[in-house]
This record gives sequence, C-alpha cells and structure tokens, in this order.
Amino acid sequence: MKRIGVLISGGGTNLQALIDAQGSVLKSGKIVCVCSNSANAYGLERAKKADIPTKVIRKKADCGGDIDEFSRQICAYMKEMRVDIIVLAGFMAIFGGELLKEYADRIINIHPSLIPSFCGEGMYGLKPHMAALEYGVKVTGATVHLVNEVVDGGRILMQKAVYIEDGDTPEVLQKRVMEQAEWIILPQAVEMVCSAD
Ligand code: GRF
Repeated sequence: MKRIGVLISGGGTNLQALIDAQGSVLKSGKIVCVCSNSANAYGLERAKKADIPTKVIRKKADCGGDIDEFSRQICAYMKEMRVDIIVLAGFMAIFGGELLKEYADRIINIHPSLIPSFCGEGMYGLKPHMAALEYGVKVTGATVHLVNEVVDGGRILMQKAVYIEDGDTPEVLQKRVMEQAEWIILPQAVEMVCSAD
C-alpha cells in the first residue's frame, strides 16, 4: 500500500474525490497527510473530517517568501510522514528544488485542460477555461501528468475530454470539467501510479 501525501490550496474537491475513491478505485494507495499553503483552505476541513493529518506551510509567512525554503519544508513534512507519492490537487503554488529532486517522477498533478492546450505559466483556476472559451474550442477536458521542472510539462498519465456547450461561462465549464473529468481521472491515475511498481 503506497503512502500518499496530498498538496492543496483551496476547496479540495479533487482531494475529496481521492478520499471517496479509497478502497474502491484507489486500492493501492492510502492518503496519509494533507499539506496546504493556505490556512483557510476548505480542503483542510475535508481532510480533518476524514481523520487525515494536516499541516499548513505558507510560502510568505512560514518560509520568508523563499521558494527553496518552501520546497524544503514541504519535502521535510512528506519525509516525516513517509510519503511515497505526492498528489497536487488544486495546488496553486510553484515549488522546485529539493521536492522535485527527492520525489522525481513521484509527483502527480491535475490540470483543467487537455495539455498541451491552455497550460503553462499562469494557467490555473478559471484561466484555462476562459482561454478555451475565448479560443472557441468545442472540446476541452482535464489532464493528469507527472510533475517536472517545466510547469505542466511532465509525462501525461491520463486525459478525459468534456464538450463545451453553448452559453457556457468559465464557472459553468469549470464545474463540468471537474465533475465529468477531474474527479474521475485523478483517482484512476493515482491508482495506476500506486499499483505500478
Ligand atoms: C480545479 O479547477 C483544478 O482543476 C485545479 O484547481 C481547481 C480547484 O481544485 N487544479 P480543488 O477543488 O481545490 O480540488
């Protein structure tokens, strides 16, 4: 059974999908801790309700705004909890250095578009959906990929397409992509990685 550490920044609906998948879709991994870079992320409540240990590590308040110190503190917590695989579930902070090195090819991210479309620097939250509507694509979706030093650049593990409908707003589209794609492929992709070796 692999030990999973989940990093969040906000609502934590993808974390909730992982919690709910434990024992069914997610058979080979167990969430052992949740780390947030925001003290008021609702995802922390979701973790507490599921009796999962949590920790808040804020880049400015706890790490003096230093990205290397931020990465070091997160890495130290993952090691302390003996995490094998890290999942970024709505995690909005950029990190680098030690965490990427220590957990090379063992960090998974969910991105709300079909990479390589609408991804990269600054493309998070509603922005990928705004860009898809702006461009006028008929299909978008979600991508689960391994994390490397390039933002949204790691190996693609799984994707799921979602149709854009007439009159979609970014908020309506975001919700459909979460419900019909993110919450389905993230648990499946995490299980695939946990059961791989
Ligand atoms: C979602 O749009 C997800 O695709 C992106 O962050 C947003 C919030 O996710 N990665 P969550 O509800 O906090 O899981």
